[in-house]
Amino acid sequence: MSDEAELRQQLEEARAEGLAAIAEAVDMAAVGEARVRTLGRKTPLARARSSLGRLPEDARRELGRLANEVQRALEEALDAAAAEFAEAERAARWERERVDVTLPGEYVATGSVHPLTKTIWEIVDVFVGLGYGLEDGPEVELSTLNFDALNAPPEHPSRSATDTFYVEGTDERVCLRPQTSPAQIRVMQSQPPPVYIVVPGRCYRRDEEDATHLAGFAQIEGLAVDEGITVADMKGTLELFARELFGKDLATRLRGHFFPFTEPSAEMDVECFVCRGSGCRMCKGEGWIEILGCGMVDPALFEWVGFDPERYSGFAFGLGVERVTALSHGIGDIRYLYDNDVRFLRQFEGAL
Ligand code: DAH
Repeated sequence: MSDEAELRQQLEEARAEGLAAIAEAVDMAAVGEARVRTLGRKTPLARARSSLGRLPEDARRELGRLANEVQRALEEALDAAAAEFAEAERAARWERERVDVTLPGEYVATGSVHPLTKTIWEIVDVFVGLGYGLEDGPEVELSTLNFDALNAPPEHPSRSATDTFYVEGTDERVCLRPQTSPAQIRVMQSQPPPVYIVVPGRCYRRDEEDATHLAGFAQIEGLAVDEGITVADMKGTLELFARELFGKDLATRLRGHFFPFTEPSAEMDVECFVCRGSGCRMCKGEGWIEILGCGMVDPALFEWVGFDPERYSGFAFGLGVERVTALSHGIGDIRYLYDNDVRFLRQFEGAL
């Protein structure tokens, strides 16, 4: 066989064997190996190419073209196989990492707003809707603002250390406020009339704890001072508040009472949600549950803060947040609100 015929045969064999080897590749790694075995430096193709120099000009050109053709055929077959395996790998990965976004997610416990906080927001919302502003006052308060400014006589029983917590080493000049009422004085000292404000906050008393009493509790104080305010304004405002909170289901009543800082004074009761008026353990046989104290601001307070009592009048109220919460949710004992038992608290998730 001539050199030429022999080389031609070698090239055709390189093509046939190369294509067969590529066809056998089962994955990307095998394609890489086939590439080395068919196009590398020690392959039949490379050996045939290096023998081309021995041929006469014409034959060299022709077989050179054939060698390029074989090379291109092998390259194309390798590229096609590589593309096929790349696509298969992509599809397999897609399948492996597929995420079903319609499956239910993992439950994440987020907690929820405490029922007392919800009640405060609800009540504040009612008054903000009537044009009242939201104010704040300190829990550790000057006794002067809590008693003297609020017209409490020197012998008033709530001044005693058996009723009120005093801060040690202050000669009873500083106390844990037993009511939010001193905030009335602070607000009136800080702004001229008209005043329309509510002040939510914590209060403390040396009280025996039971289903309706706690030593630490929350109140919301309200104060309206303007020209020409009457008892009718107070009654209308408080009845509107009670309807907003309890709906028309529970009746309310105003009952005459005494507070040093209002004249006249009253307490507002709401019909007991347990017995509806007939008397039970919850309402201690009364049929009614007291939720707030209220009255027309005593002129002595206006004098203390420098408002003209001839020109201005007003009403004030202080309501117990725990009792209102108990009434609006049918909770039989306000101590549950402070047990931190999530089985209890969960019942109020989302309820606002
Ligand atoms: N501070 C009173 C208490 O804690 C409640 C109260 C009564 C507040 C009458 C007032 C009011 O503003 O006018 O029992």
